Amino acid sequence: MGLPWIGETIAFYRAQRTNQLFHAFFQPRFNKYGKIFKTRLMGSPTVVVNGPTANKFFMSNEFKLVISSWPTSSVQLMGKNSIMEKQGDSHRCLRGIIASTLAPAPLHTMVPRICTTVQKHLEKNWRHTQEISLHRSTKMVTFTIVLECLFGIRVDLEKMFRVFEKVLEGVLVAPVDFPGTKFRRAKRARGEIEKVLVGEVRRKREAMEGGRAGEDGMLLSMLVGALIRGEITEEEVVDNVVLLVFAAHDTTSYAITMMFKMLADHPDCYSLLLKEHEEIARTKRAGNEGLTFEDVKKMEYTWQVARETMRLCPPIFGSFRKATADISFEGFTIPKGWKVLWTTYGTHYDEECFADPMSFNPSRFADPIQAYAFIPFGGGPRLCAGYQLAKLIILVFVHYVVTQYKWSLVYPDEPIVMDPLPFPSKGMPIKISPKSVTTSSTAL
Ligand code: HEM
Repeated sequence: MGLPWIGETIAFYRAQRTNQLFHAFFQPRFNKYGKIFKTRLMGSPTVVVNGPTANKFFMSNEFKLVISSWPTSSVQLMGKNSIMEKQGDSHRCLRGIIASTLAPAPLHTMVPRICTTVQKHLEKNWRHTQEISLHRSTKMVTFTIVLECLFGIRVDLEKMFRVFEKVLEGVLVAPVDFPGTKFRRAKRARGEIEKVLVGEVRRKREAMEGGRAGEDGMLLSMLVGALIRGEITEEEVVDNVVLLVFAAHDTTSYAITMMFKMLADHPDCYSLLLKEHEEIARTKRAGNEGLTFEDVKKMEYTWQVARETMRLCPPIFGSFRKATADISFEGFTIPKGWKVLWTTYGTHYDEECFADPMSFNPSRFADPIQAYAFIPFGGGPRLCAGYQLAKLIILVFVHYVVTQYKWSLVYPDEPIVMDPLPFPSKGMPIKISPKSVTTSSTAL
């Protein structure tokens, strides 16, 4: 388990920074100790678990044998009232409110708004340039979709985006609150966001109580509605807006960015994907008809590409839990209070779960996948609440880009790094040019 207190934290962080968690940290220990092994990370004795059976056991025993367990810095920056910190009934209550806007029916109505946001983003940022940072662009577009299309919040997006970036930098650092530390800067940025959001929440509350605004189906209205009914507090509204913006935009933007990387490396897959989108675009009147939910449902191969990308390049490599009782699992005893870490790598890169696991083969998703083997969105009661929205954003964004632009990577071998989430070290610049004849749908 390494040195006292510090254990193997340095090796873990070193592997994480270079996006080598699997090859430099997990795999050598799998080989030495097997798929379940103990270590000590960030001061806590931790059992790393892998494989579909372990995933099912620990994910579905959330609230019974384990609870989610985030580092102090994340909790302070996301807020102690966010859904990730909630257990039992209060988790169920918040999850219900959030799910009411992320279930399939409300998502249908969000499609035109997402199309318009993507189209406007491309028109403003892509149309008149020859090179663009794909990662920055996907971050900005998902950030805009979450704030405007999901929450219905309209603020100075560029400014807000920069402040959120500062908070992210502090999410997994040591919570050292001294002048000049990353954590201090992140806390200050969090304070700025809070001020703006408290103003938004109070304005919305006044308008709803004064009958000047009804529940418009937007998530902010749903949360404020619950606040007015006394089901949640103002702090809970603010903390969950912050949490959802983070949960949604850095993950989804990375998934889209890495899809383009995979498509650049596999031109045969790109031809198949392009054909799918050109067929959909051909059914549209040029210039004025947006995508519908039915169109998105036709993007089956694209969703296979997205899943295969997230299998090989998961936006979240795993998540920590804490044992709330002594746990017996497959002959091991995990003492109460120890941490448990499940990882995507333990199944995504395992040939027992996926044949020839390191090769990129989207069509493998045409067949059913073993339960709890493909887990980029987690599982059990904490299964990603925004999984369907992420799917929608990915498919719509890919549609408009591939039907409207020719593109190629500037640095085909650009390294991926992590801080704390993975991202391309140069922002993945791509060369772009508008396609001369566009039969694609437009939603402006
Ligand atoms: C490709 C994109 C995404 C990936 C890979 C992803 C991944 C995950 C994972 C792995 C978890 C479980 C964490 C755990 O078990 O501790 C999770 C939870 C969550 N995600 Fe996502 N996510 C994505 C997009 C989104 C979006 C778009 C939203 C919302 C708009 C969202 C909202 C949430 C929320 C609220 C939770 C916490 C659920 C709970 O604790 O009950 N995510 N996500």
